[in-house]
Amino acid sequence: MKKEFKEMLREKGRDELPKVLLAAAECAPLSKTGGLADVAGALPKSLAQLGIDARVITPYHRVIKEKYADQVEHLFYFYVDLGWRHEYAGIEKLVLDGVTIYLVDNEHYFGDKIYRGGEAEGEQYCFFTRAVLDAIPNLDFAPDVVHCNDWHTAMIPFLAKTQYLGGMQEDLKFLLTIHNIAFQGIYSYHFVKDMLGVDDRYFTYDALNLNDNPNFLKAGCLFADKINTVSPSYAWEIMTSEYSEGLEDVLLYRAEDLSGIINGIDKKVFNPNADPLLPAKFSRGRLKGKAVCKAALQERMGLEQRPDVPLFAMVTRMTGQKGFDLVTAILDSLMGSEDMQFMLLGTGDARFENFMRAAEYRYKGRLCAYIGYSEELSHLVYAGSDFFLMPSRFEPCGLSQMIAMRYGSLPIVRETGGLRDTVQPYNQYTGEGNGFSFANYDAWELRDTVRRALACYQDKDVMTALISHAMETDFGFELSAQEYARLYICML
Ligand code: ADP
Ligand code: GLC
Repeated sequence: MKKEFKEMLREKGRDELPKVLLAAAECAPLSKTGGLADVAGALPKSLAQLGIDARVITPYHRVIKEKYADQVEHLFYFYVDLGWRHEYAGIEKLVLDGVTIYLVDNEHYFGDKIYRGGEAEGEQYCFFTRAVLDAIPNLDFAPDVVHCNDWHTAMIPFLAKTQYLGGMQEDLKFLLTIHNIAFQGIYSYHFVKDMLGVDDRYFTYDALNLNDNPNFLKAGCLFADKINTVSPSYAWEIMTSEYSEGLEDVLLYRAEDLSGIINGIDKKVFNPNADPLLPAKFSRGRLKGKAVCKAALQERMGLEQRPDVPLFAMVTRMTGQKGFDLVTAILDSLMGSEDMQFMLLGTGDARFENFMRAAEYRYKGRLCAYIGYSEELSHLVYAGSDFFLMPSRFEPCGLSQMIAMRYGSLPIVRETGGLRDTVQPYNQYTGEGNGFSFANYDAWELRDTVRRALACYQDKDVMTALISHAMETDFGFELSAQEYARLYICML
């Protein structure tokens, strides 16, 4: 055990590291729609290296059952009451890469989409919340800290502290990590009362309500013992009305207990030098393989086979958060005036999908819009592209820019949240930097930044240096895991 942890523990009168149960709606590689899954998958592995037994509890989504059914062990089952509903909850156990994952089984709630939207999604995750709390005393593991993630699990501390008094949950500590404050889980009084049997005295502005509606994330922010978010910049941004989506008062009130811990990526999964999903391997200083990946990407996506043309890429959920308003505003201006290619891999809002499909038609051979989700293709896009666009309106952390850098694709980002904390803009005077950035959410600033990147592309030495800086930046999960370890110990 690290000496620092030993000393911290001694102050708490303990000699054992805390045990952690991480509750998350998705967990890679089992189920994934975005970065939350990557974090839930990677963090426990890095914590294990520090000697912390961190396990995951997550829904047994159908996508998991289809692939892993023969590897899971059934532990026990019980029934969950949600209002008049009486629902089966099975607890299965799966050990993957040394990490124990508890899967909550119910084919009705987790037999379809990971997120069903609207009240159906509220019901899915009220069920999950209740199942987690009811399962804890019967697990073959006694956690000290329950680590909740986003609104889907944010009611866990509230329910533990209001409905489980005298139970094992009363002694637990709760950490809430906010991965994205834009999603809060806002439902009606009747819905929440029915699903979770919450006492009327909690439907007030002091507790559950925000703007007259019960709000799951707000409940988590008030009732968790500590709160963190996924980058230092986002931690202060969400205390301002510009970014808080209405929660600034609550977060300012909890400011003492709020911190920012930047995410990392799984360096084994994202490793250009040993990635089985790539046609050729490469590393810093040995970039030949990257050129092979670029050619393979161009061929597969119907782009002109030109090694010399700068290839810009995006791999993303297509939502307002990710800066698509800016991309749609400048795409024609750029494609019309510059010699460049553009590759998009993403799904999301229909208006952005349609815009990109139409753009592909206009710029056949130079622009490809692959509307869909493909883990496998994403690796080739990161590896085969020269630049990676991420002009987000807000970005709690962002993993894609880190993955892009690891694969030598230079990020072009807006200076917000985790993008500000991970991308150091190129400085033409000192040669420092590992990407490009702009400050304001403004289409012309993005266009100018793309043009600056294009100018650099013409200078082989500058490009080689920047790619090298990007690829050598250490985005492993080890440092984040150490910070989480400190936070868990503080909470004991
Ligand atoms: P967010 O969680 O807000 O979507 P992040 O940058 O934190 O953004 O994480 C996104 C993760 O999801 C990355 O691992 C990225 O590669 C992956 N991803 C997003 N869209 C797609 C897609 N269409 N196909 C494959 N992977 C995707
Ligand atoms: C959210 C955020 C993203 C972050 C991810 C993992 O999806 O949008 O910025 O990287 O969570 O924490």
